[in-house]
Amino acid sequence: MAKAAAVFACNSCGSSFPKWLGRCPDCGGWNTLESAGGARASPGGKRLSADVMAHPARPLSEVSGAPEGDTGPGGRLRTGIGEFDRVLGGGLTPASAVLLGGDPGVGKSTLMLQAALGWAGQGERVLYAACEESASQVRRRADRLLASAAESKDNADSASALDIPPQAPPDDLLVCPETRLGVLLEQARQARPAVVVVDSIQMIDASEASTTSGAVAQLRTATLGLIRGGKELGFALMLIGHVTKSGGLAGPKLIEHMVDAVLRFDGDRYHAHRVLRAVKNRFGATHEIGLFEMTGGGLREAADGAGLLADEYQPRPGSVAAPVMQGTRCLMVEVQALTASGFLGSAKRKVSGLDSSRLAMLIAVLERHGGLRLADQDVFASSVGGVRAVEPACDLALALAIAGAFLGRSLPERTAAVGEIGLGGEVRPGPQTERRAAEARRLGFERILGPPVRRGASGAGWTGVSTIGQAMEMLT
Ligand code: TYD
Ligand code: MG
Repeated sequence: MAKAAAVFACNSCGSSFPKWLGRCPDCGGWNTLESAGGARASPGGKRLSADVMAHPARPLSEVSGAPEGDTGPGGRLRTGIGEFDRVLGGGLTPASAVLLGGDPGVGKSTLMLQAALGWAGQGERVLYAACEESASQVRRRADRLLASAAESKDNADSASALDIPPQAPPDDLLVCPETRLGVLLEQARQARPAVVVVDSIQMIDASEASTTSGAVAQLRTATLGLIRGGKELGFALMLIGHVTKSGGLAGPKLIEHMVDAVLRFDGDRYHAHRVLRAVKNRFGATHEIGLFEMTGGGLREAADGAGLLADEYQPRPGSVAAPVMQGTRCLMVEVQALTASGFLGSAKRKVSGLDSSRLAMLIAVLERHGGLRLADQDVFASSVGGVRAVEPACDLALALAIAGAFLGRSLPERTAAVGEIGLGGEVRPGPQTERRAAEARRLGFERILGPPVRRGASGAGWTGVSTIGQAMEMLT
């Protein structure tokens, strides 16, 4: 018998190589290659034929196109939390696997418990594996969430919120503080849930199913085991994952590849706003975002109340309000910039929530066509509130924020800016200018700086500026 070739697999991206390497050529991770043994090459003829019997190859024309575990037309599992369902593309797809990542304390457990209450409230059975908390902690949190939901409902109906006992969690919400993979899967086999929530995947102990030790191999085994269980038993899987220090989702990229959708929950540490977005979604668009606000009674949808209000916004040097498109929605966002003396030739340029290549381009345009000397200036720029403003239509706002920061001047009150900037310093219209102008006006902005438009097409308060130099004249 031929000696089985050794195989080394990267525990971050899953690529395999015939020899060990210090750095994975595919994902660039250091020291991520582990021996996967030669066993994979020949698991034995008997096993193989049994496996083939279980999943025989068959003509695609005979395969049903309905999602596995589909329950009805559309077939999505909706929580009733509109902002959450929308990001998933209209609810959770049955038997799919979704990973939710975010910084500790951002509210992942809260969001998942609210979603679980939503699914269970509609009669879908949910198994909530609370690996990081005790069952009674989960119960207390659920009671608090339900009480606050009942209260806000009552307030809306202007009825008395008092002496109404908090509604008990629905019977279809099962909680188990289980961390062992095998036991969890057996629980699912008995309970037959439509959704299994795992909080968090890093806490799942797959040692009995894993032949290799090490946290990453375990994580991979646990994820794979749960996904397989989901396909077999027909439950949809919601995995909560922690974000690593470098900001990567749930550490190894590998589990991002294994799931159908990857969601990220972000927020500003100092603000109550939370933004949910899909980084990857096999069942929907990835540009939709969900907006929430963290309150004493859990997360509240912030669909209409979101965005910067002109009343609350105080113009300052280095700050400009801009209408930004996020999927089908337009949001007013504050773009900030700061300039500080640096060293010629090694000036720093840093962005957060903005596009770094556009920042570099705008600095060059401001030098050439705005008459600013920024070559020895460190420039820092960010979008406030966790919303990414990376479209070219944010150019004008970002350029004015940088110029304002450098000159110590600001735009007049209740003024917003929108438009792309070309390399010649010209201000050009971006997509959906009218939508943006309408949103800015709705939130109380009375003047909108933007590209010149024909016959005042963009309505009241539109101030056309054709070059960056002309726009900078508005800074006082
Ligand atoms: P949590 O969902 O536990 O975050 P994660 O699972 O992402 O680590 O929530 C963390 C924070 O949210 C915590 O600091 C308290 C706050 N919070 C509220 O403000 N209101 C609430 O109703 C709840 C449940 C939590
Ligand atoms: Mg948590």
